[in-house]
Amino acid sequence: MKKVMLVFGTRPEAIKMCPLINELKTRDSLKTIVCVTGQHREMLQQVLSVFNVDSDYNLSIMEERQNLFDITTNILLKIKGVLKKENPDIVLVHGDTSTAFVVALACFYLQIPVGHVEAGLRTCDIFSPYPEEFNRQAVSIISAYNFVATKQAKENLLKEGKDKSKIFITGNTVIDALRITIKDNYHHEVLQWAKDSRLIMITAHRRENLGQPMVNMFNAIKRVIEEHPDVKAIYPIHPNPIVRETANKILKDSKQIKIIEPLKVLDFHNLLNKSYLILTDSGGIQEEATFLGKPVLVMRNITERPEGLEVGCLKLVGTEEDEIYQNFKLLLEDKKEYEKMSQASSIYGDGTASKQIADIIERCL
Ligand code: UD1
Ligand code: UDP
Repeated sequence: MKKVMLVFGTRPEAIKMCPLINELKTRDSLKTIVCVTGQHREMLQQVLSVFNVDSDYNLSIMEERQNLFDITTNILLKIKGVLKKENPDIVLVHGDTSTAFVVALACFYLQIPVGHVEAGLRTCDIFSPYPEEFNRQAVSIISAYNFVATKQAKENLLKEGKDKSKIFITGNTVIDALRITIKDNYHHEVLQWAKDSRLIMITAHRRENLGQPMVNMFNAIKRVIEEHPDVKAIYPIHPNPIVRETANKILKDSKQIKIIEPLKVLDFHNLLNKSYLILTDSGGIQEEATFLGKPVLVMRNITERPEGLEVGCLKLVGTEEDEIYQNFKLLLEDKKEYEKMSQASSIYGDGTASKQIADIIERCL
């Protein structure tokens, strides 16, 4: 029996790897092992419990206010023993986190083949997002198998000289997750609170946005919301203390904005589905909103998800206060502009990515 090990550590990786784990576990020809680095703690556990996934190993590396040196060195030292003990036939990593990069590096040192799930995303600006663009490019140098969501992602890898027989377009497993989480008859107390208002979803956490860019975002959001009494917003806030300090200073006193703890993925997906529009600097939310047909103002200067821009759901609004203010206001006041950005698309997948990836792994091992 061939051994597949999946290693991940943060909330978004878990959301996108759990559907695949559950699919791999149905395959009799494979032994599936789950190792979490614990780069995140509470936010990771929240996801594992929703998908009923237990980890076989937890490296528990998270520290409050960890920096990139902490994450990198702690994972590299701790993963070595697990990889040596299990000696898997393939290790699957996801996306562009430090967990993905460091685990791929460890596999390279031990000459264990790596499969990269959500491969091929690029901005080609090594500092944006930071350090994710470096991480994803570095994993691509190492990876033996590349599971990409879109044609564009495949093109990106071909341009870098990757072997086309090792690139598989499968769609993104996040769509598989959405097919499980979204419910028609969904209820939540937030919906009661916002029942006579347009509900706005806010998230922000990117490292390169900590500090002034985040101050700009929150100032713009607060101004627009206070000028529109028919609008209410929820902000499930990242536990990063630097994010919390900034948000609390600017947004806490607004009656129209509720800052809440991170939501379980089931709640988050359903509230996203009930939202009028989204303001975020997240990566994965851009894919989810495109699938759900929800307009997203992406508070970044560049995105690795150009498909969502083409479909029309996404708009890049940068991190300057005035640009965010103008675009947010426009979307609330101009119905035509809003309709243009509300077209759902399955460009990121049809909900069968996990099955396709599991089939390919069974075939290739
Ligand atoms: C990480 C990823 C980023 C991804 C994001 C998803 C890297 C370098 N960054 O960034 O690509 O978009 O996850 O959310 O891999 N914390 C907790 N509890 C948790 C999680 C985080 O308290 O469950 C706090 C800790 O103080 C931690 C801080 O948040 O030090 C930052 O976490 P970290 O993983 O370093 O960075 P993220 O911004 O979450
Ligand atoms: N998410 C969640 N609860 C929340 C906020 C987000 O479950 O309170 C999910 C969201 O649906 C998406 C993922 O977390 O799948 C995005 O994570 P994040 O924005 O932290 O990371 P990124 O995608 O930018 O790497």
